[in-house]
Amino acid sequence: MIYGNFILKYLKDKFLKEDPQSSSHWQFFHQFLEIDNNLNIKQTLGFGDGKKKYKLLADLIHRIFQFPLIFLEKKSSYFYRLYKIGRENTFYTGNHFSLDALRQVFTLNYLKKKELILKHRICIVIGDGFGSLTSLLLRSELSEKVIMVNLTKTLFVDVASILAFPEFSNNYAIVLVRSKREMEEAISNTSVKVIALEAQNYHLLSASKAELAFNIASMQEMDMVNIENYFKQFRNLAKQKQFYFYCCNRDSKILPDGSEICFDKYPWSSNDKHFFDEKCPWHTHYYTIRPPFYKKYDGPIKHRFTLVSENKNDKEIFKK
Ligand SMILES: C[S@@+](CC[C@H](N)C(=O)[O-])C[C@H]1O[C@@H](n2cnc3c(N)ncnc32)[C@H](O)[C@@H]1O
Repeated sequence: MIYGNFILKYLKDKFLKEDPQSSSHWQFFHQFLEIDNNLNIKQTLGFGDGKKKYKLLADLIHRIFQFPLIFLEKKSSYFYRLYKIGRENTFYTGNHFSLDALRQVFTLNYLKKKELILKHRICIVIGDGFGSLTSLLLRSELSEKVIMVNLTKTLFVDVASILAFPEFSNNYAIVLVRSKREMEEAISNTSVKVIALEAQNYHLLSASKAELAFNIASMQEMDMVNIENYFKQFRNLAKQKQFYFYCCNRDSKILPDGSEICFDKYPWSSNDKHFFDEKCPWHTHYYTIRPPFYKKYDGPIKHRFTLVSENKNDKEIFKK
């Protein structure tokens, strides 16, 4: 098990190795990730909008563009609580409260409104980026522990962001696990709040005892084989206890190598129970500083909340 700040050095040392879980999309974007010798993040591309020089000005611009989006949302005291925590989180990480961070607030608020999110002991966040959803889940107390799974390079950014919070900066609050035994130890240790997992060790998720997984704007950029591997883990977890999956991704996206990744072709089962399955209301437009300011995403984005069945399809039930 690797603890706290030591995780950053461990991950950085692996940067020159190829990541077997990285799709053509991420092989392209990771070329632009820059970390200096003191392990400071200098540049990221493809997720969030990172730290820019003129933070105050950028924050003001984000606020102006976000105003209509928030205005249109049916707000509750719970929404304001999450929104406040989300904004506070960027104070610690030094990032902007960008559209990506605001979307995580909308997501958790929506699930809470529909009474689909209770206080979960263990959640999985696949493909976070700047630890935005992870920190929101923990600091809103919706989750006691989060397993943060990402490609080795983006995981560095997730871990560095989580370490920026005073409550997670001690060496025992965040650990990286590399074996089933380490995963089990980290799960049973109440001091551990965040478990970092490299995507290449995805198979350890079966031992995580998690109850709920999130994947937002991330499976749409993975190779299908990796999506299938995550679903296998979900079905293994569903054999142990009720397991839910919140999935929010593009209907269809073409990766740089020409492969098309379609939401409906993920290995869903006819036995999965969807609590909702619709276009994601807050994931239709993004903003830019160039007119016409609000632009449609390149394709429709769906979201689905599912009670995962332990079997992929009816045939498997008959085989049992
Ligand atoms: C566009 S970003 C989305 C970030 C964030 N979830 C959001 O809502 O904006 C896609 C994320 O998926 C991650 N990712 C890509 N392939 C992955 C894989 N095989 N396993 C886990 N995460 C992966 C990327 O590293 C990145 O963090």
